[in-house]
Amino acid sequence: MVNTPRKRLVIGNWKMHGDTAFNSELLAGLRTGIQSVAQCDVAVCVPFPYLYQVRSLLEGSGVTWGGQDVSEHEKGAYTGEVAAAMLADFNCRWVLVGHSERRGYHGESDATVAAKAAAALAAGLTPVVCVGETLQEQEAGQTHAIIERQLAPVLALGADAVSRTVIAYEPVWAIGTGRTATPEQAQEVHALIRGRLDAAGTPQVRILYGGSVKASNAASLFAMADIDGALVGGAALVASEFLSIAAA
Ligand code: PGA
Repeated sequence: MVNTPRKRLVIGNWKMHGDTAFNSELLAGLRTGIQSVAQCDVAVCVPFPYLYQVRSLLEGSGVTWGGQDVSEHEKGAYTGEVAAAMLADFNCRWVLVGHSERRGYHGESDATVAAKAAAALAAGLTPVVCVGETLQEQEAGQTHAIIERQLAPVLALGADAVSRTVIAYEPVWAIGTGRTATPEQAQEVHALIRGRLDAAGTPQVRILYGGSVKASNAASLFAMADIDGALVGGAALVASEFLSIAAA
């Protein structure tokens, strides 16, 4: 099979950070700096209340945007939830689903995560499906089993759906801890995921690495065969640092 190279993708996950003044400055920095990172798709996933601001300030810049979670339901009596169509209404292109902070603090199951991915796809969004093992699971040698378990219901959505997703591998022990997986450690899991995507007939799906990615370690991660970009938390809050990752 001859595959075209996968375009690199770097997504900033702002998590629960920001306010309108802070965002203005950060977004202005991205708007200006993005000119120099042509070879990479760049996006930010922001708290819901700021989608309007982000759309206003990023429209036409080349930087795209999205949410950090989405309801599995289309609409209705689900107080506090946000529908995929609402994100699409703000021209979101992406939405994170199954981030470990959602799985861990909000009890999201693998099935719920897959349902959220399906809801996002139905609204024309690209779900960025996050998978990753905890430190305890890693130490118990369960990494591969956990990744397979988390991926299974997503792969069950079928090749057409899977081909329109992005997968993000984020070992929980590396998130916000300053402890990055080595490029080789990350590549090993990315290769496992790539194998499953190939078997599903979707070799073009991009697989991002996440967990303490910084300008100083991005290039060595991106040098790995199956690492197609990054999902960046803390370092996405500083425009120059974030853009340096995208340029790496
Ligand atoms: P971090 O977060 O880069 O701050 O480790 C990554 C993430 O949780 O997406």
